[in-house]
Amino acid sequence: MTVIKVAILGFGTVGEGVYRTIESHADDLEAVLGKKVEVAAILIKNKQRERNIRKNILVTTNFEDILNLPKLDIVIEAIVNKEPTYTFLQKAIERGCHIITANKEMFAHHGKQLIELAEQNNVSVGFEATVAGGIPVIQTLKQLLKINRVQQIQGILNGTSNFILTEMREKKWSFAEALLQAQENGYAEADPTNDVEGFDAFYKTMILSRLAFGEEPNWQDVEREGITSITSELIDAAEKLGLRFKHIASISNERGQIQVSVKPALVGKENPFYHVEGVENAVSVHSDIVGRITLQGPGAGMFPTASAVIEDLVYVCLNTQKDRSFKVEDTAVSDQQRSCKEELWFVHAQSNYFQSLPSNLIEQTFKQTYIIRATKREVEGLANQDKEISYFPIVGEYQTANEDKVLTAQ
Ligand SMILES: NC(=O)c1ccc[n+]([C@@H]2O[C@H](COP(=O)([O-])OP(=O)(O)OC[C@H]3O[C@@H](n4cnc5c(N)ncnc54)[C@H](OP(=O)(O)O)[C@@H]3O)[C@@H](O)[C@H]2O)c1
Repeated sequence: MTVIKVAILGFGTVGEGVYRTIESHADDLEAVLGKKVEVAAILIKNKQRERNIRKNILVTTNFEDILNLPKLDIVIEAIVNKEPTYTFLQKAIERGCHIITANKEMFAHHGKQLIELAEQNNVSVGFEATVAGGIPVIQTLKQLLKINRVQQIQGILNGTSNFILTEMREKKWSFAEALLQAQENGYAEADPTNDVEGFDAFYKTMILSRLAFGEEPNWQDVEREGITSITSELIDAAEKLGLRFKHIASISNERGQIQVSVKPALVGKENPFYHVEGVENAVSVHSDIVGRITLQGPGAGMFPTASAVIEDLVYVCLNTQKDRSFKVEDTAVSDQQRSCKEELWFVHAQSNYFQSLPSNLIEQTFKQTYIIRATKREVEGLANQDKEISYFPIVGEYQTANEDKVLTAQ
Protein backbone atom coordinates (compact mmCIF):
# COMPACT_ATOMS: atom_id res chain seq x y z
CA MET A 1 0.00 0.00 0.00
CA THR A 2 1.24 3.51 -0.78
CA VAL A 3 1.89 5.89 2.06
CA ILE A 4 1.34 9.64 2.49
CA LYS A 5 4.59 11.06 3.87
CA VAL A 6 4.29 14.12 6.08
CA ALA A 7 6.82 16.51 7.59
CA ILE A 8 5.89 18.67 10.59
CA LEU A 9 7.71 21.98 11.03
CA GLY A 10 7.69 22.82 14.76
CA PHE A 11 7.02 20.61 17.76
CA GLY A 12 5.42 23.08 20.17
CA THR A 13 1.76 23.15 21.23
CA VAL A 14 0.42 22.76 17.69
CA GLY A 15 3.15 20.59 16.11
CA GLU A 16 3.06 18.08 18.95
CA GLY A 17 -0.75 18.03 18.88
CA VAL A 18 -0.69 17.24 15.18
CA TYR A 19 1.89 14.47 15.67
CA ARG A 20 -0.12 12.87 18.49
CA THR A 21 -3.36 13.11 16.51
CA ILE A 22 -1.83 11.45 13.43
CA GLU A 23 -0.69 8.62 15.75
CA SER A 24 -3.99 8.31 17.65
CA HIS A 25 -6.18 8.53 14.54
CA ALA A 26 -4.01 6.47 12.17
CA ASP A 27 -6.78 3.97 11.40
CA ASP A 28 -9.39 6.67 10.74
CA LEU A 29 -7.02 8.50 8.39
CA GLU A 30 -6.23 5.29 6.53
CA ALA A 31 -9.94 4.46 6.23
CA VAL A 32 -10.77 7.91 4.77
CA LEU A 33 -7.73 8.31 2.53
CA GLY A 34 -7.13 4.69 1.55
CA LYS A 35 -3.47 5.20 2.46
CA LYS A 36 -1.42 5.24 5.63
CA VAL A 37 -0.28 8.67 6.86
CA GLU A 38 3.29 8.55 8.10
CA VAL A 39 5.26 11.33 9.80
CA ALA A 40 8.66 11.16 8.09
CA ALA A 41 10.39 14.16 9.69
CA ILE A 42 10.02 16.90 12.28
CA LEU A 43 11.81 20.27 12.21
CA ILE A 44 12.71 21.88 15.53
CA LYS A 45 15.01 24.67 16.66
CA ASN A 46 16.49 23.36 19.89
CA LYS A 47 18.10 19.95 19.46
CA GLN A 48 18.82 19.60 23.22
CA ARG A 49 15.16 19.51 24.32
CA GLU A 50 13.79 16.06 25.28
CA ARG A 51 10.85 15.02 23.06
CA ASN A 52 8.66 12.00 22.94
CA ILE A 53 9.04 11.14 19.24
CA ARG A 54 9.38 7.68 17.69
CA LYS A 55 13.02 6.73 16.92
CA ASN A 56 12.48 6.07 13.19
CA ILE A 57 11.37 9.70 12.56
CA LEU A 58 14.00 12.17 11.39
CA VAL A 59 14.23 15.03 13.88
CA THR A 60 16.32 17.87 12.49
CA THR A 61 17.13 21.56 12.81
CA ASN A 62 17.98 21.79 9.10
CA PHE A 63 15.07 22.29 6.69
CA GLU A 64 17.21 21.09 3.76
CA ASP A 65 17.21 17.58 5.35
CA ILE A 66 13.43 17.61 4.98
CA LEU A 67 13.49 18.81 1.38
CA ASN A 68 15.99 16.05 0.58
CA LEU A 69 13.76 13.22 1.81
CA PRO A 70 13.27 10.69 -1.03
CA LYS A 71 9.45 10.96 -0.77
CA LEU A 72 7.47 13.83 0.78
CA ASP A 73 3.79 14.66 0.13
CA ILE A 74 2.69 17.20 2.74
CA VAL A 75 4.49 19.82 4.81
CA ILE A 76 2.62 20.95 7.94
CA GLU A 77 3.92 24.20 9.36
CA ALA A 78 3.45 25.07 13.05
CA ILE A 79 6.33 27.41 13.83
CA VAL A 80 6.35 31.12 14.56
CA ASN A 81 7.18 34.38 12.73
CA LYS A 82 7.02 35.24 9.04
CA GLU A 83 10.55 34.07 8.32
CA PRO A 84 12.10 31.61 7.77
CA THR A 85 8.62 30.09 7.55
CA TYR A 86 7.57 31.74 4.28
CA THR A 87 10.81 30.67 2.60
CA PHE A 88 10.41 27.08 3.88
CA LEU A 89 6.88 26.86 2.52
CA GLN A 90 7.83 28.29 -0.88
CA LYS A 91 10.54 25.61 -1.16
CA ALA A 92 8.09 22.91 -0.07
CA ILE A 93 5.60 23.93 -2.76
CA GLU A 94 8.32 24.04 -5.41
CA ARG A 95 9.28 20.54 -4.37
CA GLY A 96 5.66 19.51 -5.17
CA CYS A 97 4.28 19.22 -1.62
CA HIS A 98 0.86 20.29 -0.38
CA ILE A 99 1.28 22.69 2.51
CA ILE A 100 -0.78 23.23 5.66
CA THR A 101 -0.14 26.13 8.01
CA ALA A 102 -1.30 27.30 11.44
CA ASN A 103 0.77 30.49 11.31
CA LYS A 104 -1.67 33.41 10.90
CA GLU A 105 0.91 36.18 10.98
CA MET A 106 2.90 34.61 8.15
CA PHE A 107 -0.24 33.66 6.21
CA ALA A 108 -1.83 37.13 6.53
CA HIS A 109 1.36 38.59 5.02
CA HIS A 110 2.16 35.94 2.40
CA GLY A 111 -0.93 33.75 1.94
CA LYS A 112 -1.78 35.26 -1.45
CA GLN A 113 1.68 34.52 -2.86
CA LEU A 114 1.69 30.99 -1.41
CA ILE A 115 -1.71 30.19 -2.93
CA GLU A 116 -0.57 31.51 -6.33
CA LEU A 117 2.66 29.49 -6.16
CA ALA A 118 0.69 26.39 -5.14
CA GLU A 119 -1.64 26.83 -8.13
CA GLN A 120 1.35 27.02 -10.46
CA ASN A 121 2.73 23.83 -8.92
CA ASN A 122 -0.62 22.02 -8.82
CA VAL A 123 -0.66 21.52 -5.06
CA SER A 124 -3.03 22.73 -2.33
CA VAL A 125 -2.75 25.03 0.67
CA GLY A 126 -4.60 24.33 3.94
CA PHE A 127 -4.99 27.18 6.42
CA GLU A 128 -7.97 26.22 8.59
CA ALA A 129 -5.87 26.51 11.78
CA THR A 130 -4.92 30.14 11.07
CA VAL A 131 -8.39 31.42 12.05
CA ALA A 132 -10.36 30.55 15.20
CA GLY A 133 -8.39 27.37 16.07
CA GLY A 134 -10.69 24.37 16.15
CA ILE A 135 -13.74 26.09 14.62
CA PRO A 136 -14.04 24.96 10.98
CA VAL A 137 -14.68 28.46 9.68
CA ILE A 138 -12.51 28.22 6.55
CA GLN A 139 -14.20 25.04 5.33
CA THR A 140 -17.62 26.45 6.20
CA LEU A 141 -16.89 29.55 4.13
CA LYS A 142 -15.53 27.48 1.23
CA GLN A 143 -18.71 25.41 1.33
CA LEU A 144 -20.96 28.49 1.47
CA LEU A 145 -19.03 30.25 -1.29
CA LYS A 146 -20.04 27.60 -3.80
CA ILE A 147 -23.42 29.35 -4.30
CA ASN A 148 -24.23 31.68 -1.38
CA ARG A 149 -22.98 35.24 -1.49
CA VAL A 150 -21.37 36.16 1.78
CA GLN A 151 -22.32 39.68 2.84
CA GLN A 152 -20.88 39.98 6.32
CA ILE A 153 -18.58 38.10 8.68
CA GLN A 154 -18.23 39.02 12.33
CA GLY A 155 -16.03 37.21 14.81
CA ILE A 156 -14.59 37.03 18.27
CA LEU A 157 -11.22 35.84 17.02
CA ASN A 158 -8.88 36.32 19.96
CA GLY A 159 -9.47 34.04 22.95
CA THR A 160 -7.04 35.91 25.20
CA SER A 161 -8.90 39.23 24.81
CA ASN A 162 -12.23 37.52 25.35
CA PHE A 163 -10.89 35.81 28.48
CA ILE A 164 -9.66 39.15 29.88
CA LEU A 165 -12.99 40.90 29.21
CA THR A 166 -14.89 38.00 30.80
CA GLU A 167 -12.69 37.96 33.92
CA MET A 168 -12.95 41.75 34.28
CA ARG A 169 -16.74 41.52 34.21
CA GLU A 170 -17.24 38.43 36.35
CA LYS A 171 -14.58 39.11 39.00
CA LYS A 172 -14.70 42.92 38.86
CA TRP A 173 -10.98 42.88 38.11
CA SER A 174 -8.88 45.59 36.50
CA PHE A 175 -7.39 45.00 33.05
CA ALA A 176 -3.95 44.41 34.65
CA GLU A 177 -5.31 41.78 37.06
CA ALA A 178 -7.16 39.91 34.31
CA LEU A 179 -4.11 40.03 32.03
CA LEU A 180 -1.94 38.55 34.78
CA GLN A 181 -4.44 35.70 35.18
CA ALA A 182 -4.38 35.11 31.40
CA GLN A 183 -0.58 34.90 31.56
CA GLU A 184 -0.68 32.52 34.54
CA ASN A 185 -3.14 30.27 32.64
CA GLY A 186 -0.80 30.23 29.61
CA TYR A 187 -3.30 32.08 27.38
CA ALA A 188 -1.25 35.26 27.04
CA GLU A 189 2.44 35.62 26.18
CA ALA A 190 4.88 37.52 28.42
CA ASP A 191 4.54 40.28 25.80
CA PRO A 192 0.76 40.33 25.22
CA THR A 193 0.77 43.09 22.56
CA ASN A 194 -0.31 40.87 19.68
CA ASP A 195 -3.44 39.79 21.54
CA VAL A 196 -4.52 42.82 23.55
CA GLU A 197 -3.78 45.41 20.85
CA GLY A 198 -5.78 43.47 18.26
CA PHE A 199 -2.95 42.43 15.88
CA ASP A 200 -3.71 38.70 16.14
CA ALA A 201 -7.41 39.28 15.37
CA PHE A 202 -6.42 41.67 12.58
CA TYR A 203 -4.29 38.99 10.83
CA LYS A 204 -7.14 36.50 11.04
CA THR A 205 -9.56 39.10 9.70
CA MET A 206 -7.37 39.76 6.67
CA ILE A 207 -7.26 36.01 5.95
CA LEU A 208 -11.08 35.81 6.15
CA SER A 209 -11.52 38.90 3.98
CA ARG A 210 -9.30 37.45 1.28
CA LEU A 211 -11.13 34.14 1.32
CA ALA A 212 -14.68 35.51 1.40
CA PHE A 213 -14.29 38.53 -0.86
CA GLY A 214 -11.20 37.73 -2.92
CA GLU A 215 -9.48 40.86 -1.64
CA GLU A 216 -8.54 42.67 1.52
CA PRO A 217 -8.57 46.41 2.22
CA ASN A 218 -5.39 48.43 2.56
CA TRP A 219 -4.07 47.41 5.95
CA GLN A 220 -3.50 51.07 6.92
CA ASP A 221 -7.21 51.87 6.29
CA VAL A 222 -8.49 49.25 8.73
CA GLU A 223 -9.70 50.46 12.12
CA ARG A 224 -7.72 48.26 14.52
CA GLU A 225 -8.07 48.78 18.22
CA GLY A 226 -7.37 46.41 21.11
CA ILE A 227 -8.99 46.14 24.52
CA THR A 228 -6.53 48.15 26.60
CA SER A 229 -8.87 51.17 26.84
CA ILE A 230 -11.69 49.14 28.44
CA THR A 231 -11.92 49.85 32.16
CA SER A 232 -13.84 48.00 34.88
CA GLU A 233 -16.00 51.12 35.18
CA LEU A 234 -17.03 50.88 31.50
CA ILE A 235 -17.73 47.15 31.83
CA ASP A 236 -19.88 47.78 34.89
CA ALA A 237 -21.87 50.56 33.19
CA ALA A 238 -22.40 48.32 30.14
CA GLU A 239 -23.70 45.50 32.32
CA LYS A 240 -26.22 47.83 33.97
CA LEU A 241 -27.53 48.60 30.48
CA GLY A 242 -27.77 44.91 29.50
CA LEU A 243 -24.66 45.03 27.30
CA ARG A 244 -21.32 43.20 27.22
CA PHE A 245 -18.02 44.31 25.74
CA LYS A 246 -16.58 41.96 23.10
CA HIS A 247 -13.59 42.41 20.81
CA ILE A 248 -15.20 42.07 17.39
CA ALA A 249 -13.72 41.71 13.94
CA SER A 250 -16.16 42.73 11.26
CA ILE A 251 -15.92 42.41 7.48
CA SER A 252 -18.73 43.40 5.18
CA ASN A 253 -19.21 43.87 1.50
CA GLU A 254 -21.53 46.79 0.87
CA ARG A 255 -22.18 47.33 -2.83
CA GLY A 256 -18.73 46.11 -3.78
CA GLN A 257 -16.88 47.92 -1.02
CA ILE A 258 -15.13 45.93 1.67
CA GLN A 259 -15.42 47.49 5.12
CA VAL A 260 -13.29 46.04 7.87
CA SER A 261 -12.82 46.87 11.54
CA VAL A 262 -11.26 45.06 14.48
CA LYS A 263 -12.21 46.77 17.73
CA PRO A 264 -14.16 46.59 20.99
CA ALA A 265 -17.92 46.80 20.61
CA LEU A 266 -20.98 46.07 22.72
CA VAL A 267 -23.57 43.35 22.26
CA GLY A 268 -26.96 42.81 23.86
CA LYS A 269 -28.49 39.54 25.10
CA GLU A 270 -30.06 38.81 21.70
CA ASN A 271 -26.64 38.67 20.02
CA PRO A 272 -25.06 35.17 19.96
CA PHE A 273 -21.72 36.75 20.90
CA TYR A 274 -23.16 37.83 24.29
CA HIS A 275 -22.74 34.29 25.61
CA VAL A 276 -19.27 33.65 24.14
CA GLU A 277 -17.14 33.69 27.25
CA GLY A 278 -13.57 32.99 28.36
CA VAL A 279 -11.12 31.74 25.71
CA GLU A 280 -13.89 30.68 23.31
CA ASN A 281 -14.06 32.10 19.79
CA ALA A 282 -17.12 32.58 17.59
CA VAL A 283 -17.71 33.45 13.97
CA SER A 284 -20.98 34.62 12.49
CA VAL A 285 -21.41 34.55 8.72
CA HIS A 286 -24.29 36.26 6.97
CA SER A 287 -24.97 35.22 3.39
CA ASP A 288 -27.80 35.76 0.97
CA ILE A 289 -29.45 32.33 0.81
CA VAL A 290 -28.88 30.76 4.20
CA GLY A 291 -29.00 33.93 6.34
CA ARG A 292 -26.91 33.99 9.49
CA ILE A 293 -24.84 31.04 10.74
CA THR A 294 -22.89 31.28 13.99
CA LEU A 295 -20.11 28.87 14.88
CA GLN A 296 -18.64 28.81 18.36
CA GLY A 297 -15.85 26.77 19.92
CA PRO A 298 -12.26 26.57 21.11
CA GLY A 299 -10.14 29.15 19.31
CA ALA A 300 -6.77 27.68 20.33
CA GLY A 301 -5.07 24.87 22.22
CA MET A 302 -3.19 21.70 21.32
CA PHE A 303 -5.98 19.41 20.14
CA PRO A 304 -8.54 21.93 18.83
CA THR A 305 -5.82 23.35 16.56
CA ALA A 306 -4.59 19.86 15.64
CA SER A 307 -8.18 19.05 14.65
CA ALA A 308 -8.15 21.92 12.14
CA VAL A 309 -4.80 20.76 10.72
CA ILE A 310 -5.91 17.13 10.40
CA GLU A 311 -9.13 18.13 8.62
CA ASP A 312 -6.95 20.15 6.23
CA LEU A 313 -4.73 17.10 5.72
CA VAL A 314 -7.72 15.10 4.54
CA TYR A 315 -8.93 18.04 2.44
CA VAL A 316 -5.64 18.59 0.58
CA CYS A 317 -5.34 14.87 -0.12
CA LEU A 318 -8.87 14.48 -1.46
CA ASN A 319 -9.70 17.84 -2.97
CA THR A 320 -8.48 19.05 -6.32
CA GLN A 321 -11.25 21.54 -7.10
CA LYS A 322 -10.54 25.23 -7.28
CA ASP A 323 -12.18 27.25 -4.53
CA ARG A 324 -14.27 30.23 -5.46
CA SER A 325 -14.19 33.59 -3.80
CA PHE A 326 -15.87 36.83 -4.76
CA LYS A 327 -13.89 39.35 -6.73
CA VAL A 328 -14.47 42.90 -5.57
CA GLU A 329 -13.73 45.61 -8.11
CA ASP A 330 -13.01 48.51 -5.83
CA THR A 331 -11.86 47.79 -2.32
CA ALA A 332 -11.26 51.36 -1.23
CA VAL A 333 -13.24 52.08 1.91
CA SER A 334 -15.30 55.23 1.57
CA ASP A 335 -14.93 57.12 4.83
CA GLN A 336 -17.72 59.42 3.77
CA GLN A 337 -20.16 56.52 3.35
CA ARG A 338 -19.12 54.97 6.64
CA SER A 339 -19.50 58.25 8.53
CA CYS A 340 -23.03 58.95 7.26
CA LYS A 341 -24.72 55.76 8.47
CA GLU A 342 -26.61 55.98 11.77
CA GLU A 343 -25.56 53.45 14.39
CA LEU A 344 -26.11 52.87 18.08
CA TRP A 345 -23.27 53.99 20.34
CA PHE A 346 -22.35 53.36 23.95
CA VAL A 347 -20.86 56.64 25.13
CA HIS A 348 -19.26 57.32 28.49
CA ALA A 349 -18.49 60.83 29.67
CA GLN A 350 -16.95 62.09 32.89
CA SER A 351 -18.81 65.41 32.72
CA ASN A 352 -22.51 66.21 32.45
CA TYR A 353 -21.90 67.34 28.91
CA PHE A 354 -24.47 64.92 27.48
CA GLN A 355 -27.34 66.49 29.35
CA SER A 356 -27.28 69.26 26.77
CA LEU A 357 -27.66 66.84 23.84
CA PRO A 358 -30.80 66.86 21.69
CA SER A 359 -33.12 64.25 23.24
CA ASN A 360 -33.76 62.56 19.88
CA LEU A 361 -30.16 61.23 19.94
CA ILE A 362 -30.45 59.64 23.37
CA GLU A 363 -32.05 56.20 23.69
CA GLN A 364 -30.93 55.20 27.22
CA THR A 365 -28.84 56.56 30.06
CA PHE A 366 -27.19 55.17 33.14
CA LYS A 367 -25.23 57.60 35.31
CA GLN A 368 -22.59 58.98 32.93
CA THR A 369 -23.23 56.41 30.21
CA TYR A 370 -25.52 57.10 27.29
CA ILE A 371 -26.84 54.98 24.45
CA ILE A 372 -27.22 57.30 21.52
CA ARG A 373 -28.26 56.88 17.90
CA ALA A 374 -25.93 58.88 15.70
CA THR A 375 -23.57 58.73 12.75
CA LYS A 376 -19.89 58.02 13.32
CA ARG A 377 -19.10 61.60 12.34
CA GLU A 378 -21.52 62.95 14.98
CA VAL A 379 -19.99 60.81 17.70
CA GLU A 380 -16.48 61.81 16.70
CA GLY A 381 -17.63 65.45 16.79
CA LEU A 382 -18.90 64.99 20.37
CA ALA A 383 -15.69 63.28 21.43
CA ASN A 384 -13.62 66.11 19.94
CA GLN A 385 -15.39 68.58 22.22
CA ASP A 386 -14.68 66.56 25.35
CA LYS A 387 -11.50 64.52 25.50
CA GLU A 388 -12.80 62.43 28.40
CA ILE A 389 -15.54 60.86 26.29
CA SER A 390 -15.05 57.25 25.23
CA TYR A 391 -17.40 55.65 22.71
CA PHE A 392 -17.95 52.16 21.28
CA PRO A 393 -20.42 50.83 18.70
CA ILE A 394 -23.24 48.45 19.66
CA VAL A 395 -23.50 45.52 17.25
CA GLY A 396 -26.74 43.79 16.25
CA GLU A 397 -30.09 44.02 18.03
CA TYR A 398 -30.15 45.36 21.57
CA GLN A 399 -33.00 45.09 24.01
CA THR A 400 -32.79 48.04 26.38
CA ALA A 401 -32.14 47.32 30.05
CA ASN A 402 -35.74 47.95 31.14
CA GLU A 403 -36.80 45.64 28.26
CA ASP A 404 -39.39 48.02 26.89
CA LYS A 405 -37.61 48.62 23.60
CA VAL A 406 -35.66 46.60 21.07
CA LEU A 407 -33.16 48.75 19.21
CA THR A 408 -31.49 47.65 16.02
CA ALA A 409 -27.93 48.86 15.89
CA GLN A 410 -26.67 48.16 12.33
N1 LIG B 1 -1.00 27.54 20.28
C1 LIG B 1 -2.18 27.60 19.68
O1 LIG B 1 -3.21 27.27 20.27
C2 LIG B 1 -2.28 28.05 18.24
C3 LIG B 1 -3.54 28.04 17.62
C4 LIG B 1 -3.63 28.41 16.27
C5 LIG B 1 -2.49 28.78 15.59
N2 LIG B 1 -1.28 28.81 16.23
C6 LIG B 1 -0.09 29.20 15.46
O2 LIG B 1 0.68 28.00 15.26
C7 LIG B 1 2.07 28.33 15.27
C8 LIG B 1 2.76 27.49 16.34
O3 LIG B 1 2.23 27.82 17.59
P1 LIG B 1 2.64 27.03 18.92
O4 LIG B 1 1.74 27.55 19.99
O5 LIG B 1 2.70 25.58 18.66
O6 LIG B 1 4.11 27.61 19.16
P2 LIG B 1 5.21 27.04 20.14
O7 LIG B 1 4.61 26.18 21.19
O8 LIG B 1 6.03 28.21 20.56
O9 LIG B 1 6.10 26.09 19.22
C9 LIG B 1 6.86 26.58 18.16
C10 LIG B 1 7.70 25.45 17.61
O10 LIG B 1 8.38 25.93 16.45
C11 LIG B 1 9.76 25.61 16.55
N3 LIG B 1 10.48 26.69 15.85
C12 LIG B 1 10.40 28.01 16.07
N4 LIG B 1 11.20 28.67 15.20
C13 LIG B 1 11.76 27.73 14.43
C14 LIG B 1 12.69 27.76 13.35
N5 LIG B 1 13.17 28.92 12.90
N6 LIG B 1 13.08 26.61 12.80
C15 LIG B 1 12.60 25.43 13.26
N7 LIG B 1 11.71 25.33 14.26
C16 LIG B 1 11.32 26.47 14.85
C17 LIG B 1 10.07 25.54 18.03
O11 LIG B 1 11.18 24.70 18.18
P3 LIG B 1 11.78 24.28 19.62
O12 LIG B 1 10.76 23.34 20.21
O13 LIG B 1 13.03 23.61 19.30
O14 LIG B 1 11.91 25.56 20.38
C18 LIG B 1 8.76 24.92 18.58
O15 LIG B 1 8.81 23.52 18.50
C19 LIG B 1 2.17 29.83 15.50
O16 LIG B 1 2.34 30.47 14.27
C20 LIG B 1 0.82 30.17 16.13
O17 LIG B 1 0.42 31.51 15.84
C21 LIG B 1 -1.15 28.44 17.54
